[in-house]
Amino acid sequence: MAANKKLLFLPGDGIGPEVMTEVRRVIDWMDHRRTVSFDITEGLIGGAAIDATGGPLPDDTLDVAINSDAVLMGAVGGPKWETMPFEVQPERGLLGIRRELGLFANLRPALVFDALASASTLKEEVVSGLDIMIVRELTGGIYFGEPRGVEDLPGGGRKGVNTLTYTTAEVQRIGRVAFDLAQKRNGRVCSIDKANVLETTVMWREDMESIKGEFPDVELSHMYVDNAAMQLVRNPKQFDVVVTTNMFGDILSDCAAMLTGSLGMLPSASLGELDESGRRAALYEPVHGSAPDITGEGIANPLATILSYSMLLRYSFDMSEDADLIDQAVCNVLDGGLRTADIMERGKVRVSTETMGKAIIKELDKLAA
Ligand code: IPM
Ligand code: MG
Repeated sequence: MAANKKLLFLPGDGIGPEVMTEVRRVIDWMDHRRTVSFDITEGLIGGAAIDATGGPLPDDTLDVAINSDAVLMGAVGGPKWETMPFEVQPERGLLGIRRELGLFANLRPALVFDALASASTLKEEVVSGLDIMIVRELTGGIYFGEPRGVEDLPGGGRKGVNTLTYTTAEVQRIGRVAFDLAQKRNGRVCSIDKANVLETTVMWREDMESIKGEFPDVELSHMYVDNAAMQLVRNPKQFDVVVTTNMFGDILSDCAAMLTGSLGMLPSASLGELDESGRRAALYEPVHGSAPDITGEGIANPLATILSYSMLLRYSFDMSEDADLIDQAVCNVLDGGLRTADIMERGKVRVSTETMGKAIIKELDKLAA
């Protein structure tokens, strides 16, 4: 492989740095054993950035991110910064980097590993073999719509406003990502909206319909979000690719995450638009967040971050063989009975973050032998 790829590491807050230490092992392993080599820069985001620089997204972080081939993030946020003014809270850093890098497509796979099918709070037969891809629009909708804010009313009291906006171009753009993924999967897209109440999502539905002709081999269906929430827990295996707005995607992806038995297992990718040279901005992160309750105990599950790195290889560098290798290593380690606290079940072996990370390396050694 020619020039080294540039990777920005953003460990962030809470368990972020702990899980990022373990992914580093995997990257080093690939560096030594296989074809890809990364120039890694470490940067600040979220609470860690607030403590060091006063703001959650320093210019320097953004500059390096823009000039990187991909960004791998741990997590942001924690009780320490919750009382800060809204504009400078850690979450603003995450939302800022999504917006500045144009990361409009958020891919959140909800996959149940065979070894963990009984770890879900749902019945095993409902979730075993589950493999859904949630495609969440990430830079539009009510998260970013204007006007927004809270104002004092002349007669007393206040008025809060957030605005749900989408353009046809935004809907079609995220739609194409979903259709494209469905082509490589089981050929079905379910678009989630609230077209019985919200005009913007009536348009969303029409705009999704308008592009389906480009993907004749993909079947498009529509569902209202309240029904979708219900169907996700009733019969999740009916879904293949789910595409939805920023807000609905935030909620439904947490719901889908729980189907898998542990938030600690779920990776995600946030992708920008492809440019002429075939490059796209991309940020990968575990879905689990900073988990302040277990920070510093060395018990966090590093697998979602390791799987996020696998997504990075797959979606940013087209290295599906290496990505498959990592996914297989995760599968095998789980089959072998090792569990971090969050996915612990009777009869399994409870291990620390570090032991889990090292077990993945051992498994990679075996698989590559
Ligand atoms: C997520 C998170 C974020 C979001 C927060 C931390 C801003 O919940 O990535 O799902 O709402 O998008
Ligand atoms: Mg969320």
